[in-house]
This record gives sequence, structure tokens and C-alpha cells, in this order.
Amino acid sequence: MAVLLPGGAGFIGSHTAVELLKEGKEIVIIDNFSNSKPEVLDNIKKITGKDFKFYEIDYLNRKDLEKVFEENKIDSVINFAGFKAVGESVQKPIEYYTNNVSGALILLDTMKKYGCKKFIFSSSATVYGDPERIPITEDCKTGGTTNPYGTTKLFIEQILKDIYQSDNTWDICILRYFNPVGAHESGLIGEEPQGIPNNLMPYIVRVANGQLKELSVFGNDYPTKDGTGVRDYIHVVDLAKGHLKALDKLDKEGKGLYIYNLGTGIGYSVLDMVKAFEKATGRQVPYKIAPRRSGDIAKCYADPKKANEELGWKAEKTLEDMCKDSWNYIAKK
Ligand code: WQD
Repeated sequence: MAVLLPGGAGFIGSHTAVELLKEGKEIVIIDNFSNSKPEVLDNIKKITGKDFKFYEIDYLNRKDLEKVFEENKIDSVINFAGFKAVGESVQKPIEYYTNNVSGALILLDTMKKYGCKKFIFSSSATVYGDPERIPITEDCKTGGTTNPYGTTKLFIEQILKDIYQSDNTWDICILRYFNPVGAHESGLIGEEPQGIPNNLMPYIVRVANGQLKELSVFGNDYPTKDGTGVRDYIHVVDLAKGHLKALDKLDKEGKGLYIYNLGTGIGYSVLDMVKAFEKATGRQVPYKIAPRRSGDIAKCYADPKKANEELGWKAEKTLEDMCKDSWNYIAKK
């Protein structure tokens, strides 16, 4: 019995693949390399010393997807496939809704056809919009997303709730990620945004290695301790391990639709991140204060208690690990 990982060559998918293989699970990866590279697959094998099946296909292609289900005994699916650039999603809404929402529907329909009903979905804290409460618990109101990327996550969550409502033999787990950063400690896999990065940590790393001149800190007049935006940064390896715990729960208990925040519960400001990075790596990160970025909120961090109590999961890596590993990945290139 294998776990299917659509988008398994991507940032979070590849780290989850490593953790699954380390636990002795059989996996099958599908990816169309739209935002990843084939060498990632070799590096997953190098880290784990284990092999797995791979198909270079687009999950929008139903025929290709069916072939994967025909040729393998797929027991569960962890869906990492999807576009994820917030700014680009505003420019290309049709592409985002097609790839993310239609892709998920084709995947779920194919699963149903083959009697596979165990599904873990990569959602995002973005579904909380401007959160009604901090720290954010899973029962906080969702909605009010400010870009098509975030809305695709919200729509897919709703689709999953409707599917479960119609047929409660599905086992579904929605994982709402906070701000994933870091990389595998080997430096062999990590985050590789195309072009100029939008997210904070990839930007900091490229300032530190001289590829970019300075960081623009988007706003220093938020109601936070130093005026800069506060987020819940989580090491990607901790995040990956959360998927294994979710899978365990579905394997052992199943029969339900579960929702968990995956965050540390600690909020760091942009300036905290700059200082922590400089301390952990010894590199300088020059910055200037710039205007607020549209769509940004002041504070966003999780209450991770539910995942802790129900999954037995807790983020273990420190902010220093996040900074060191993010840097190590780029410095090794
Ligand atoms: C973090 C903080 C910025 C860049 C986004 C998506 C979310 C999820 C993760 C996933 C904010 C500040 C950033 C820079 C800065 N998407 N910042 N200068 O906005 O919390 O979440 O990424 O795939 O859905 O919305 O993350 O890393 O962009 O920003 O000052 O150059 O850093 O204003 O306070 P965000 P981020």
C-alpha cells in the first residue's frame, strides 16, 4: 500500500517524502516540475537511501492520473500540488483556480473511482483572512481571503467538507500551515522560489548572499511590539512530520474530517527574523523600512494545541534551526 504525493518534488512535498520514507512507508510521487526540479528526486533518495516510484504527469490529466492508480495500490493521498504565489494569483486567477481547484477535483474524483478515500490536504493559515482572534484556533471564522491563491485553499476546504457530508466513509485531514521556512539539515532539499522571492525568509537569504541588495521591511507602524508584521514561522521538517501524524490518525482512527493548525504558536516580527538570521549565520542583512504591502495583516500566529493533543505533534525546531538551515541550503549551491 502506497501513499501518493502529488507535488511531491516541491518544497513541502519533498520534505514530507523524506519523513515518510524514513518511517518505512511506500510512496509514489507525481509532479510536472512546474515549480520544482528533477534533481530533487535524486536528493530525496540520497538522504533516505530509499527508492520510490515517480511519474512526470500533470494531475489535471485524468487519464495519466488513472494510470497511476491502475499501476499502484494507492491507499492514501497527501496533496501538495498547486500554485502558491500570492501576487501571481492576482494576475492569473483562471490559471490558479484551474490548477488548484480543478486539479483537486480531478484527483478526488479519481480517488473515488479507485475506492481510495484517505486524503490529507495542504491548506494555509490564509483561510482565516484577517483573523478574528490571536492566537488562531481552528474554530476561528474562515473567509475574507485577499487573493485568488488564498481563495483556492478556502474553496478546496469547502469541497472537502461537502464530500465528507455526502459520504462519511472518507477520511479527510485539512492541515493549515502557518509560515513554512528552513530546509532539510543535509542542505540537499529546500525552497527554490523562481525569480525574486515574495516571502520573507527566501528574500533574507538572498540579501545575505549578496544576490539582492537589501530587504524592504513592509511597514513599521503595525500594532505589534516593534511595528513590523508578526508571523508564526515553522521549520519545514516539523511541518513534514505533522503529515505523518495526520496519516497515523487517519490510518488508526479514520472516519472523520479533521482540521489542524500546524504552527509553533510563537509570533516573530520581521525585525526579530532579521536579527535571528544575522545571529545564527553571522551574515549581515541590510534593510530599509518601506510602505506596508497591500493585503498584509499585523499579526498571525497559531494556537497549535489541537494538533498537540489529538495528533501528538509539536514543532520542535528552533528559530535558530530555521535560519541556519535556510542559509545552509543556499550557501551549499
Ligand atoms: C511575512 C512577513 C511581510 C517580504 C504568505 C501567504 C500565505 C503563505 C505564506 C504560501 C510579513 C514581511 C515579507 C519582504 C517583508 N503562502 N515581509 N519584506 O504574507 O505571512 O504569508 O506566505 O504558500 O498564504 O500569504 O508571508 O513571508 O510573504 O511575509 O517585510 O520582502 O514579512 O510584510 O509581515 P505571509 P511572507
